[in-house]
Amino acid sequence: MLVLGIESSCDETGIALYDTDTGLLAHRLHSQIAMHTEYGGVVPELASRDHIRRVLPLTEACLAEAGKAIADVDAIAYTEGPGLAGALLVGASVANALGFALQKPVIGVHHLEGHLLSPLLAEPAPQFPFIALLVSGGHTQLMAVRGIGQYELLGETVDDAAGEAFDKSAKLLGLSYPGGPQVSKLADTGDATRFKLPRPMLHSGDLDFSFSGLKTAVLNLVKKEQQDDGTLDNATRADVCAAFQEAIVEVLTKKCLAALKQTGMKRLVIAGGVGANRQLRAGLDDAAQRRRFEVFYPPLALCTDNGAMIAFAGAMRLKYAAADYQFGVKPRWDLA
Ligand code: KG4
Ligand code: ZN
Repeated sequence: MLVLGIESSCDETGIALYDTDTGLLAHRLHSQIAMHTEYGGVVPELASRDHIRRVLPLTEACLAEAGKAIADVDAIAYTEGPGLAGALLVGASVANALGFALQKPVIGVHHLEGHLLSPLLAEPAPQFPFIALLVSGGHTQLMAVRGIGQYELLGETVDDAAGEAFDKSAKLLGLSYPGGPQVSKLADTGDATRFKLPRPMLHSGDLDFSFSGLKTAVLNLVKKEQQDDGTLDNATRADVCAAFQEAIVEVLTKKCLAALKQTGMKRLVIAGGVGANRQLRAGLDDAAQRRRFEVFYPPLALCTDNGAMIAFAGAMRLKYAAADYQFGVKPRWDLA
């Protein structure tokens, strides 16, 4: 069965073709980051318009790469939510129009379920059950995953998401959006021991997170260390990045360990954009060796938003598909 996946929840148009027998055949992505950079964040109306421009050419490119025609598609999966309403509507409309024209089922997929299942696209894929750490620009959640559709929320952020903390701290340091990759790169050259930043809720005794205090600590540090012109010298900036990254990685790692202990599970899956962070991966790999659990990551290219995870989650959900073309979007939507 060949599933076309369409992701358009935020600032990336992602299209993919997933075959339930042979795996991922093609995936294409257009990132709008350059377009939004001058505004310091995503402008929803610009995002919607760009999705409209990109979605069909990317679909055609995927079909060409896979050597398939649109008539070969057996089902269409799209991101139904959560996300920006206008951006979601582009994917929802195209998916449902295609489904109607081709008389094929259309499945609305939860964006976080896409992220959550994306490590199953890697080799080796994790077996159920597992603990999933979802760390993206909008979410930070720990879930117990017992099967497709069987998700239990164990803990989540009470304020900012981990990716949001990266992005906001990057902005305070004069770095452009999205800040995660840049903070991470600078951190590699910095000294993490020069500044000590807080580890919010590390000892809260539950599996919740809080990152807004960390961002405020970065703000205070920037104010204290800034030069006369209001900027930081390069070495100080790298040291702040290193201290920030170390704090966030320590909290994420220790909460994952606590979730494994609490549930007795032995497999950990990392999903979402922050899952691309090399220090987080190194910290978790190290803990996995010492504590004898397995850790799984999506392929690096599938860590951030993409169509492949939507095609895959849609394929997994196909048996629940209702081809009634009564479609909508859910800009706010909890997975569990
Ligand atoms: O999953 P994603 O692409 O989009 C959402 O659904 O939010 O995640 C984007 C987030 C951004 O906050 C970005 O700064 C962060 O992931 N990110 C990283 C890295 N790469 C992306 N954060 C830390 N280190 C990275 N290497
Ligand atoms: Zn995402």
